[in-house]
Amino acid sequence: MNIGKILKGKVCFVTGTSKGLGKSIVEAFAKAGAIVYANDIEIGSIDHFAKKLSEKYDTSVIPVYFDITESQKCKEAIILVKKQQGKLDVLVNNAGVMKDALIGTINRPLIDRTFDVNVFATMELLQLGAKLMMQNNGGSIINMSSIVGITGNPGQTVYSATKGAIISLTKTAAKELAPKNIRVNAIAPGMIDTDMMRSIGEKHLALHISNISLKRLGKPEEIANACLFLASDMSSYVTGHILSVDGCVLV
Ligand SMILES: NC(=O)c1ccc[n+]([C@@H]2O[C@H](COP(=O)([O-])OP(=O)(O)OC[C@H]3O[C@@H](n4cnc5c(N)ncnc54)[C@H](O)[C@@H]3O)[C@@H](O)[C@H]2O)c1
Repeated sequence: MNIGKILKGKVCFVTGTSKGLGKSIVEAFAKAGAIVYANDIEIGSIDHFAKKLSEKYDTSVIPVYFDITESQKCKEAIILVKKQQGKLDVLVNNAGVMKDALIGTINRPLIDRTFDVNVFATMELLQLGAKLMMQNNGGSIINMSSIVGITGNPGQTVYSATKGAIISLTKTAAKELAPKNIRVNAIAPGMIDTDMMRSIGEKHLALHISNISLKRLGKPEEIANACLFLASDMSSYVTGHILSVDGCVLV
């Protein structure tokens, strides 16, 4: 979809971008004219893609490798953006981990790591990003929740709790940051065709698809398009919203 350079002049920071939704978000933002800082934990994983996008869309896609659960690294990354660009317009807290475990088999390391990546790092980057946005008359923060944070799902007590937390923190941050002209929204994707989703196995996948009104998995680009809307001025009166992008799940 070509909607022009609606992010021209915007500086964006996206976490978890070597594949899946994050990779599509980076491409959509670069295509829309944004300067994009693309984070991932896997060193070197987006070098080639970043270079390709920068050339193709005549912009800058800058890889920044670190584990978002490391506080100091988060700080350094936002300081780098400030030094190089003097501002931050858009933050997308996309990176996430998902590992299923039935009640009775859930262990503490699984809880700790899932909350660390999905919730605590999001809170940390939200704070750091908001501080920089405040110095430049506002911005847009987009957090990645999930349909299971709304509906729940057997085997996902831990993961769904992290995604539920994203919903409540998004609503609170939106109220608190509105006076600073910072909008905070979340996207709740349904079943989107990425490695994370494929990890549940073909049998489960078929079962879930039968429960989707549109009868197919979503494409990463369809989440990227929702991000584009929330990142741009097209959504200037939208904040504290949880945008479901799920093909209308039946139950
Ligand atoms: N795919 C779906 O159907 C779906 C549905 C609902 C919500 N989500 C959410 O969307 C987001 C992206 O999901 P995806 O399907 O693209 O996942 P994915 O596993 O395909 O990609 C996740 C990316 O995050 C990176 N990452 C993981 N831990 C990190 C860390 N500590 N620091 C920095 N980077 C890290 C990975 O290297 C990878 O590039 C996640 O928050 C996920 O929970 C996905």
